[in-house]
Amino acid sequence: MLNYRHVFHAGSFVDVHKHITLRILLRSLLKKDSAFCYFDTHAGAGSYDLQSEYAQKNREYENGIYRVAAAENPPEEVIDYLDEVNAVNHKKVRERGEYRYYPGSPLIARQLLRKQDRMLLTELHNTESLLLRKMFNKDKQVNVLQGDAFVSLKANLPPKERRGLILIDPPYEVKAEFQSLAMSLIKAWQKWPTGIFAVWYPLQKSQPVPQFHYELRAAGVRKVFIHEFYVLPDSQSNRMAGSGMLIINPPWQFDERITGVLNWLVPVLDQAGGSGPRCEWIVPE
Ligand SMILES: C[S@@+](CC[C@H](N)C(=O)[O-])C[C@H]1O[C@@H](n2cnc3c(N)ncnc32)[C@H](O)[C@@H]1O
Repeated sequence: MLNYRHVFHAGSFVDVHKHITLRILLRSLLKKDSAFCYFDTHAGAGSYDLQSEYAQKNREYENGIYRVAAAENPPEEVIDYLDEVNAVNHKKVRERGEYRYYPGSPLIARQLLRKQDRMLLTELHNTESLLLRKMFNKDKQVNVLQGDAFVSLKANLPPKERRGLILIDPPYEVKAEFQSLAMSLIKAWQKWPTGIFAVWYPLQKSQPVPQFHYELRAAGVRKVFIHEFYVLPDSQSNRMAGSGMLIINPPWQFDERITGVLNWLVPVLDQAGGSGPRCEWIVPE
């Protein structure tokens, strides 16, 4: 049963956090000529219409991409991300300080692939995977698989390129999501200990984030860096108050770069007394 549709949340503060991180990580892979594979395990629909009735329901983009686009003196990493969002929107719409479309992680990544690189997308939802297939129909560098993320992760690692990034971005609708995530992530890392893994997770009172971190440490996973922040006080168990990301094998100086970005970004996204950022190695280099 899949109730989650990402269009309700497109362009939210979470997307901003995740997609800026994605761009920084992918750009680091461009520093070498050798091919890499970008693997998006929960790919979504690829692109979202912010004027659709779904996106209009909660207008989450107003507390996300709209705030970032209106803020002054963004760091270069944020400019790079904004360039990509601008690229899928008409100039006239942008000039009104608005956006019609918001690119999902597959589109954000596709723009950075060179001809030697490849992208693998897994999506379980029928409608979303059909949209993805349509979007990348004639694109030989993109492979869309409809199916379960964790089955796909097991089947497709390590990639033949032996270089690359895996984005794991589950909806956390199912209670046991963190447990299956930890198990699959540990197995994936054991199959490919040098890959870059980027996992997004919600910060919410009821979610077992410390347990998730503990399980990775206990399994012996190395080089684990987290960055998190809150946009609201973490006082209610039924409300997501912040956004977290865990990176295994981050590239050189990623820790410093993301800390600088979040020092700028967190005040821009703050809604009502959030806190952070918290940026730290939970298992050192
Ligand atoms: C948070 S959204 C992804 C957003 C996308 N990564 C982005 O940043 O644009 C999560 C997606 O995971 C899909 N999904 C849920 N359970 C899944 C599973 N077991 N395997 C693969 N995809 C799944 C949902 O249909 C949804 O589209």
